[in-house]
Amino acid sequence: RVWEAGEAGDVAASWSGPHFVVLCGGDEDRARDVAAALTSARCVVVGGGGEGVPARYEAAVLQTLELLQRIVAEKPKDEVLIQLVVAGAGAEALFGGLAGLLRTARLEHPKLRGQIVVVAADESAAQIVAHLQESARRPHEQAVRYSAGTREVASWRELSPDAGVAMPWRDGGVYLITGGAGGLGLIFAEAIARGAKDAVIVLTGRSELDDGGHARLSGLERLGARVAYRRVDVADGAAVRSLIAELRESHGGVSGIIHAAGVIRDSFLLKKTADEIHAVLAPKVAGVVNLDEATADLTLEFMILFGSGAGAFGNVGQADYAAANALLAEYAAWRNEQVRRGERWGRTVSIAWPLWRDGGMQLPEASERQQRQMGLHPLATEAGLEAFYRALAGESGEGDEIAVLSGEAGALR
Ligand SMILES: NC(=O)c1ccc[n+]([C@@H]2O[C@H](COP(=O)([O-])OP(=O)(O)OC[C@H]3O[C@@H](n4cnc5c(N)ncnc54)[C@H](OP(=O)(O)O)[C@@H]3O)[C@@H](O)[C@H]2O)c1
Repeated sequence: RVWEAGEAGDVAASWSGPHFVVLCGGDEDRARDVAAALTSARCVVVGGGGEGVPARYEAAVLQTLELLQRIVAEKPKDEVLIQLVVAGAGAEALFGGLAGLLRTARLEHPKLRGQIVVVAADESAAQIVAHLQESARRPHEQAVRYSAGTREVASWRELSPDAGVAMPWRDGGVYLITGGAGGLGLIFAEAIARGAKDAVIVLTGRSELDDGGHARLSGLERLGARVAYRRVDVADGAAVRSLIAELRESHGGVSGIIHAAGVIRDSFLLKKTADEIHAVLAPKVAGVVNLDEATADLTLEFMILFGSGAGAFGNVGQADYAAANALLAEYAAWRNEQVRRGERWGRTVSIAWPLWRDGGMQLPEASERQQRQMGLHPLATEAGLEAFYRALAGESGEGDEIAVLSGEAGALR
């Protein structure tokens, strides 16, 4: 995903239908000023309560979802514009992950039109209002960003397949895969075991490993890797810190992390509950924060976050999962910013995966059929690994978020 210069000129008159502005981050004073100037819109503040990224983000997801539920319950006759204002720097930018929720909302309720408007942290209420009004005249743009006098629009740029591939594993490396006993975790553990000599591979999950899991681990050891499974809930900060301390003690550190822990609790936006949202957000959101903080002073070579097409494009029934995965993309950007400042090590890439043919998570048959009609086919293991190596081969300028699509290229473009 890249930001490109926005096209000039208005494409529509001022928005005349129902209009909501959601201000992320809880700055009540600024919200009051924006609300006073934008009399035709209803303003709401989200993400103000709670401490730390996971709590604030979960509050913002819940509050935005409740707003969408109220709007839908009123059965609007016209299209409703929901503009979400996000400050474009530091941890505040993570609220941009709410884009996943808005994209899903539009798929479930086509009358809802979401738009993320990223602004500089120090912009006045008057400037924000001007940006909102300008962007409301281009409601088809799903994400726009104002910075240093420029207006940019988020879009996708196709990566050239011939830029080479990079296998990030090296002999003797130490690799942590969260959700490692799941479908994709084991595929990548095997890729490491085959691609590097004497690698140490540590897999985590909340459950006890079953017989099948033990057999898969023995198979990996036969390939020459040293493999361990640890029952660690990645959403539990203390447990993650103690696992990282153990890896530091026994192996001198960690070379790379694949964050693949995740759960789904599919249901329509109108039916989502706070418990479901918490269950879906915890492994991804608290998970990435815990991993990042626990490894802040380690010289990681990479941190790869397993996101989903649901985050990048939205997916019916997955409003919470889309918000969780879209947060990972924002987190990758934020962490890479810290790497550039010398505060973290190793490139972070969030990969928005499509459905894997042999992954653990599966789609209901009807959704898979619908995807096929759109030209999307389940991703085969070999092609998925190739896409992974291609995603890592690029320079950091290629994007913090890389979406992988599998199917009929013509139809998908
Ligand atoms: N498979 C696909 O087609 C696909 C497509 C798009 C994106 N993805 C993403 O890729 C990742 C892996 O998918 P998968 O197909 O391998 O799914 P999977 O087979 O369901 O594996 C996910 C693993 O995550 C673990 N997990 C869940 N919550 C956890 C927590 N709090 N702490 C530690 N581990 C936790 C689960 O183990 P426990 O229950 O034992 O904790 C499970 O083994 C997921 O994040 C998913 O969102 C997959």
